[in-house]
Amino acid sequence: MAIRSIQHFALTVPDLNAGRQYYNDIGLIAEERDGAIVAHCDGRQQDEVILFEGNSNHYHHVSFGTNEDGLGEIKQKLEAAGTKLLDPPTEWPEDGLWFRDPDDALIHIGAVEPAPWRDDPPWLTNSPGHYDRVGVRAVAPVDIEIRPRRFGHMLLFTTDIEAKTGFFTDILGMKVSDSVETFIDFFYASSGSDHHILAFGLSSKPGFQHAGFELGNVDEVGMIGRKLREKGYIHCWGPGRHGPGSNYFQYFRDPWNSITEFFCDMDYIAADSDWQPKTWLNSEAAADWGPDLPADFLTNFEALGST
Ligand SMILES: [Fe+2]
Repeated sequence: MAIRSIQHFALTVPDLNAGRQYYNDIGLIAEERDGAIVAHCDGRQQDEVILFEGNSNHYHHVSFGTNEDGLGEIKQKLEAAGTKLLDPPTEWPEDGLWFRDPDDALIHIGAVEPAPWRDDPPWLTNSPGHYDRVGVRAVAPVDIEIRPRRFGHMLLFTTDIEAKTGFFTDILGMKVSDSVETFIDFFYASSGSDHHILAFGLSSKPGFQHAGFELGNVDEVGMIGRKLREKGYIHCWGPGRHGPGSNYFQYFRDPWNSITEFFCDMDYIAADSDWQPKTWLNSEAAADWGPDLPADFLTNFEALGST
């Protein structure tokens, strides 16, 4: 028993209005609740992004889901490892287990199922010998509204990737799907999940690097770039296709230089998959195709105190 899903992430930001504007602009529904901004994807009844007001931008917590048996087993393992269980934070008093990982990062695990998200009609493509889309245009009108379907994963900076990976695999039951040399590890849920619902990247300090939101197809991944540029947001990287996870990607910066990824068509690892983790070279992992990795992609702006 172990973590089965990723539910939401929470950040502290210096300007809640700018945060609400940003998440609404990228197509989520962001609203004020009890002094915080809480955002979710259109058509999904699940809190996915939570913003608290603070002096600077920084990671607050990440929340995972499991079942009742999983929660009991994780609690036992945490106690056996000497990890102190905490009271819920007053600003987000959700039931479940609250504790700090080896980076001192606050973690929440609840007995909750992920809420269903909007599904799409099948993504039909034509390839040599396979005409699945006949008499229908592939590309949607330019003025179509693009709204993410769900929060899919996040990448956190860590100062000790070995300790953090050991904690999330040995105690929280996650599995490593792939690594990039010795500085990025990707994790999936052993009950079956995307290739990664969580990843860690090595840095001088812990922090939030990016959150990934799923879009419907590669056209939406491309098109959202045009729309967010028009709104004045800072383009970060893409479009392209990653090695680990195989996802099509495009990245933008939030108002505090953390990153939002828009992705689609990620590898899925079922509970009974015979998945063999691979250690990718950095030179082959960043993008199978697309622009080169930007020099500042793994800059830890949170550690730099950027606001
Ligand atoms: Fe990502």
